Amino acid sequence: MSTADITVYGIVGSLRKGSWNRLLLESAARLAPGGVTVTISDLIGQFPLFNEDLLAQEPAAVTQMRREIAAADALLIATPEYNGGVPGVLKNAFDWISLPLGASVLQGKPVALIGTSPGRLGTARCQFELRNMFVFSQSPVMPGPEVVMPFAHECFDETGHLKDPVATERLGVLFEKLRAHVAATRTEVAAR
Ligand SMILES: Cc1cc2nc3c(=O)[nH]c(=O)nc-3n(C[C@H](O)[C@H](O)[C@H](O)COP(=O)(O)O)c2cc1C
Repeated sequence: MSTADITVYGIVGSLRKGSWNRLLLESAARLAPGGVTVTISDLIGQFPLFNEDLLAQEPAAVTQMRREIAAADALLIATPEYNGGVPGVLKNAFDWISLPLGASVLQGKPVALIGTSPGRLGTARCQFELRNMFVFSQSPVMPGPEVVMPFAHECFDETGHLKDPVATERLGVLFEKLRAHVAATRTEVAAR
């Protein structure tokens, strides 16, 4: 494993079986260049609704995801938007994972965002909200390329593989930039 190799922890912001965003993340994992390993987590569907009363006995899925995020070099989130914002299941997951406040595994963890929706804006509003959320956890979100894919139903072939050439090209750029983003974050953290 070279220093340019990175491990990427993938999270889908939809629990739907036929999720376009799951297809997108699976396509991204397949398209990842050599040295970039993407694993897709299914844990957020096991998270209970966040309740501070449950903190005394943290759910096992939360502990597991925290451990897995800590071990990964970066997060890659593929999510739809609901009502112009972050889906409740995804926000719920990050409310759990963001603890302990100020010292969570999200601190300094590089993040990349991608998303698709059948609508015109392709999850742009949700990604904007997520960027804001990650300010609180001090997680450096990559500025670009923006991967916001409108008309999701036209972007995949019948086997669920991404067929949209622009999105495919953008994912390639995203992975190259993510490698550099991880390296820059490491350097910045080491210099603190
Ligand atoms: C409650 C609800 C709200 C939605 N709000 C939006 C929205 O604000 N913008 C949008 O582009 N699509 C919206 N949609 C449509 C979703 O993008 C669509 O259901 C999408 O397929 C969900 O993502 P998935 O395929 O990954 O499960 C909404 C759907 C639901 C059920």
